[in-house]
Amino acid sequence: MITVTKLICAQRDADDPLRHIRERFELPENVIYLDGNSLGALPRTTSATLQNTIRQQWGNDLIRAWNKHDWVNFPKRIGDKLAQMLGAAPGEIVAADSTSINIFKLLAGALELPAIRNNKQRRVILSEAGNFPTDLYMAQGLNVLLGNQYTLKLVAADQLAASMNETVAVALITQADYCSGHLHDMAALNVAAHQAGTRILWDLSHTAGAVPVSLNESGAEMAVGCGYKYLNGGPGAPAYCYVARALQPNFATPLAGWFGHQAPFAFSPEYAPAPGIERLLAGTPSILAMQALDCGLASFDDVSMQAVRQKSLALSDMFWALMDEHCAGLGFHCVSPREHAERASQLSFAHEHAYAVMQALIDRGVVGDFRQPNLLRFGFTPLYTRFIDVWNAVMVIRDVMQASAWQDAKYHHRNAVT
Ligand SMILES: Cc1ncc(COP(=O)(O)O)c(C=O)c1O
Repeated sequence: MITVTKLICAQRDADDPLRHIRERFELPENVIYLDGNSLGALPRTTSATLQNTIRQQWGNDLIRAWNKHDWVNFPKRIGDKLAQMLGAAPGEIVAADSTSINIFKLLAGALELPAIRNNKQRRVILSEAGNFPTDLYMAQGLNVLLGNQYTLKLVAADQLAASMNETVAVALITQADYCSGHLHDMAALNVAAHQAGTRILWDLSHTAGAVPVSLNESGAEMAVGCGYKYLNGGPGAPAYCYVARALQPNFATPLAGWFGHQAPFAFSPEYAPAPGIERLLAGTPSILAMQALDCGLASFDDVSMQAVRQKSLALSDMFWALMDEHCAGLGFHCVSPREHAERASQLSFAHEHAYAVMQALIDRGVVGDFRQPNLLRFGFTPLYTRFIDVWNAVMVIRDVMQASAWQDAKYHHRNAVT
């Protein structure tokens, strides 16, 4: 094994084909940002674009802007850009609402598909015990509305494929685990689901923009995901919905709003869904938020997802190697998969004092985050994370531990957001 030195890190940055992409972001001085898996960084174009949208489009053009600037089709335009990134066809993705709401809409829509609704044997919603809580909460809330017809069955990640059978209506699967960064094999699980007659609703929140995703090629039928993580759309950015073309004609949303109507400005009292993916829209989209998400997506212009993936794995390999070398014996244990095929774009380290350690790191400019019960999460966002950042971050971690800096009482106070 080659010992990683600061010089090697600098050389890796010099050789990095994505190094110029960092200039597309406004990043504060003296911060090593390793939390783009939670909130992506601010693209340089976002402020001016939003200013223009506010002053020129909204301020000057007022209501006319809906036509003049084609605001009305913004959710679909963004959806088509996402489709290109995620291996779907134009007209299969639309930007809308939050991920939580989209989970509700798509899960309800899936359960209403005739093959599921009419088959009383299929009354299990399958998911992972460690799935992101909002995914599970949405399934629970929907089930209550449906008169508790369904049982929510939670299994370990490696039991998902084996648990799909003739009783399972829908499997709700997050492609990459938010705690460990464990990555599922989407194609393999789609095959297992197909054989069992189960439908999968994928949550791509921790993969879109970080890992190459091929929705069509892998046989995925439904997906949702966040716009504010690797896609850099800003806090609370619109999320998105994917429904494969073949499923769309039979797909009903329970939130049948006027923006999903086939002719919203006919103002008909009867709901009739739009023919395509637009039926998943409910109400008026936030144009400012759409504009910011559009800037986030533009930060991927001319960037191949293969190059992103290659750099992501190189960054996390280097971080792990440096942790092994410089922080051995300091109480850290990496819970992320060693295998590349099973690892998304983050590393998580368990530590007895994880919360306080992370606060001490943040105070020194190394920004990751904390997840229950004892995890320090470090996200690698190849568009702006450098190899030298990885080196410097590990040196700060070592110093914080060696000086016991985390023991300071101020690092033990729990903030609302961790
Ligand atoms: C896997 C996953 N799904 C959903 C969400 C949250 O969705 P929302 O944007 O509705 O808060 C998160 C947030 O971190 C997430 O990690």
